[in-house]
Formats: sequence, C-alpha cells, structure tokens
Amino acid sequence: MNAPDQYGVVGHPISHSWSPFIHGLFAKQTDQSLVYRLYDIAPENFRAQVLEFFTRGGRGLNVTVPHKEAAAELANDLTMRADRAGAVNTLILGDSHSLLGDNTDGHGLVTDLTKNIGQNITNERLLILGAGGATRGVVEPLLSLGPTELVIANRTPERAVNLASLFSDLGAVRGCGFDHVGDDPFDLIINATAAGLSGSVPNVAPTVIAGHTVCYDMSYSKTATPFVTWAVEQGCARAHKGWGMLVEQAAESFTLWRGVRPDTGPVLTALGIK
Ligand code: ATR
Repeated sequence: MNAPDQYGVVGHPISHSWSPFIHGLFAKQTDQSLVYRLYDIAPENFRAQVLEFFTRGGRGLNVTVPHKEAAAELANDLTMRADRAGAVNTLILGDSHSLLGDNTDGHGLVTDLTKNIGQNITNERLLILGAGGATRGVVEPLLSLGPTELVIANRTPERAVNLASLFSDLGAVRGCGFDHVGDDPFDLIINATAAGLSGSVPNVAPTVIAGHTVCYDMSYSKTATPFVTWAVEQGCARAHKGWGMLVEQAAESFTLWRGVRPDTGPVLTALGIK
C-alpha cells in the first residue's frame, strides 16, 4: 500500500488550529488517503521549511497568520483571486513541480454567509473592520455580489484607504478610520481585525448596529468572541463566529488538492455549528 499523501497547515503560532480535525473528516468522508499535520514555522524559516516540505514529497499546504503574504511571494504562479488579494492561504504542488498559490478565504466567507447563514449581500450596506491580510482576501468576492456600498474601516485609516483603492474598479468601496464610517447603521458588519486576540473590540460607534444588522466575526473560538459579545449587547439581529468560514475555505482547498468536493454539512454538525 502507498504511503498517504502529505498535507498540512503552516502558521506561527498554530497549535490552536482545527484544520487537521476538519481535513481528517473530509478525507474520511471522501475516502482519500492523506495525512494533514500542523507546522509551526517562524517567519525567518518560512521559505526554507516550506520548500523542504514539498521537496520531501508534500502535496499541499494551507497557510495562515503571519505567512499569507510570504506564501504569495514564494508561489511560482498565483490564481487571479490570490494575485488580487496579495495573499495565499493554499499552496498546491503542480505536475511540473511548480507551486501554485490560491486564496480560498473569500470563497469560504461568502459561502458561509450566503449558503449557511442565508445572508444576502447584493444591494446591502457592508462594513468591514480591519485592513490587514484577513480583509485583503475577502474584498473581491464580497464586491462581486454587488453590495450597495462596502466600507473598510481601520484603526490606521491610511491602510483602509490604500486597500479600498486597490479594489475601486470592482464596485462601491471606500476606506476610512473608525470615526468616519457615517451615521447610518449597516446591514452586515464583518470583524476582520486582530483586536479579539487581546480581548478588545474595534473602537467603532455602536450606532453602526441597528436591530436588523447581522454581525460576523472572522475569528472563532468555542466561547463567545469579544466582538460577538459586543455586537449582541448593541442589539444586533444575529452575531456569528467564523467557524463556518473556516470549514468552507478548508473544503475549497481540499477540492483543489484532491479533485473531490467534501460535504461541509457533517463537519459543521461535528463542530456543533449546524
Ligand atoms: P491579519 O493578516 O490577521 O489581518 P494584520 O495584517 O496584522 O493581520 O492586520 C491586523 C488588523 O487588525 C489590522 O487591521 C489592525 O489594525 P492596524 O492596521 O491599525 O494595525 C487590526 N487591529 C489589531 N489590533 C487591533 C485593535 N486592538 N483594535 C482595532 N484594530 C486592531
């Protein structure tokens, strides 16, 4: 019997990751022979250790914080969506031993919002908090669904303004600081900041939330995240953590690697989300 194909996720830190659990369930469900491991790699070792993984026969890697931009530099080719995002979360070893970089984060978020949660994007007003790598990966797929307006607000306003300008050909998008988001509440607010890691919430006025506002935190944890707790306190309609995005981006990566699409429903159920 052949040895199972090698996959994994590289990040720093990485021990909290649920990706081995998720990909393990996908592999079982689709009868694929593979192993999926965690790789904790510091930024200075990223390039050498990722190349070593592939030269030793590894077939594919997910890439997470803080390596997504370095992975875009490392890949020989980028898909259009990864190129636009300037960030890679999936590396795929091609037939000619070249590395293809893709970004499945936006697909994961949009699939979770539209299919699992039933949230409409078209003609809605959207606010994204944060202008880092997490936001980069999701702006294009959100704009492709035609929101009335997409506001990117960030603690450092220039980063939001710069990011918005990269996507301005795709729809109505503007960047600003937290204090310039306007007075009207939004239909959907997505938290893509790292504020939750330090137990805090982006410093945006509670007036962005009305009774119909749906809130989404791209972070996930078994307990409520600070943003979800805050959003519920402000009286939003519903607040979701990023578990569904995690599972859906993983399913898209798995499909790219194995050519078979896993059913995410049983995995969401196993995680207690559905
Ligand atoms: P990632 O790849 O996870 O997006 P990043 O590029 O370091 O990581 O970006 C982190 C984001 O979280 C940034 O938008 C950052 O704001 P700044 O650009 O002003 O640094 C945001 N962030 C981090 N801590 C925050 C906090 N306590 N309050 C608000 N925003 C915060």
